[in-house]
Amino acid sequence: MFYTLKWEGDAVSFIDQRILPLEEVYIRCTDYEQVADAIKTMVVRGAPAIGVAAAFGIALGAAKSKQSTIDGFKEEFVHICSVIKGTRPTAVNLFWAAKRMEDLFKLLILETQDIQKIKDRMVAMAVQMYDEDVEINRMIGVNGDEVIEDGMNILTHCNAGALATTEYGTALSVIRFAHGQGKKIHVYSDETRPFLQGARLTMWELMKDGIPCTLLTDNMSGHMMANKKIDLIIVGADRIAANGDSANKIGTYSVAVLAKYHNIPMYFAAPLSTIDLKTPEGDDIPIEQRPLDEVKKVNGKYICPPEAQAVNPSFDVTPNELITGIITDKGIIYPPFGPAIRSLFEGGAQ
Ligand code: MRU
Repeated sequence: MFYTLKWEGDAVSFIDQRILPLEEVYIRCTDYEQVADAIKTMVVRGAPAIGVAAAFGIALGAAKSKQSTIDGFKEEFVHICSVIKGTRPTAVNLFWAAKRMEDLFKLLILETQDIQKIKDRMVAMAVQMYDEDVEINRMIGVNGDEVIEDGMNILTHCNAGALATTEYGTALSVIRFAHGQGKKIHVYSDETRPFLQGARLTMWELMKDGIPCTLLTDNMSGHMMANKKIDLIIVGADRIAANGDSANKIGTYSVAVLAKYHNIPMYFAAPLSTIDLKTPEGDDIPIEQRPLDEVKKVNGKYICPPEAQAVNPSFDVTPNELITGIITDKGIIYPPFGPAIRSLFEGGAQ
C-alpha cells in the first residue's frame, strides 16, 4: 500500500512521484515553502492532489506561524497563500482549494481573536478537504461505470489515478470500479512525454491492482485506433471551462482529434472542483510552460544537441465538440456542456 500525501500534524508527507516506480520514497515537508516546492517540482502532481496539497500547505503555514497579533498573522497568511498559489497555474483545483482556505480564514478572524483557535480550524478544514476528495473520487468511479462495457479496451493518457488524487483517481477510479465489478477490461496507457506519468505512474498503479494493461508510446495511439484496438478513451482534467473545453496533459488534444476521426467515445473524468465557471472557454485557460530540460533530457542525459531549441507546454485544451461526456462526482454530463455544467452546479445532474 502507498499513499499520495498525508497530514502528519506537524508536517505533510508525499510519495516522491519524480522517482517512481523505481523507488518508493516519501518526502516530509515541515514548512509551507517546502510544500510549495514539492508542488512546483512535481513531487506531488495531478489536479485534485495539488488541490489537497495546497490546502495542507496553507494549513501548515498557518499552524506554524509565530505571529502573536491578529494583524501580523493576517499578513503572514496572505503571503503563505500567495506562495502556494504561485506554484502551478493550470490545475484550477489549486486555486479552488486556496480560496476555500482563504474564505474560512476571513470568516474566522471576524469571529475570534484567538490565533490558536484559527490555526486549529484551518488544519481541520484541510483534513476535511482530504477526506472529501477520497469520497468524490470514489463517486466518479461509481458514476462512470455505465460507460464501460465488458471486454472493452480503454486508452488513457497521463496519470489520473490515486497518485493524482487522495485515493482511487478520476479516470482510473472509473477503470478500477469497472474492474472491481468483474468486467474484463484492458487498459492502454500512453507513456506521456516528457514527464512520463503514463509509463511510470499509471502502469505502476494498474499493475499493483492487477488490472490488465499495456504501455504505448505517445505516437502509437493513432495506429492502435486505426487497427480497432481501442473502444473507449477516459482521461482526467486540470481545468474545465464553463463551456466544457477541457485542459489536460499535453497530448490529450491529439488523442481527442484521433478519437473523433475513428469514432471512438472520449470521456473526461473530473470532480466539480476542476470545473471553473470563471473561465468561459478553453482559450482563457493558462497553460503552464515547464523547464525545457524536461524535454531535452531523459534520465538526466541530453537526447538532443544541448543547445537545441525546444518548447514545453505542459497541458493542451480539448475543445468541447471533441468530448463525448464528462464524468463527475455528481453524474455524467453530455453536450451541450454549457447548460449541462450550469445545471450541475445548481444540483440538476444526477
Ligand atoms: O502535470 P501533471 O502531472 O500534474 O498533470 C496531470 C494531469 O494532466 C492529469 O491528467 C490531471 O491532473 C487529472 S488528475 C486526476
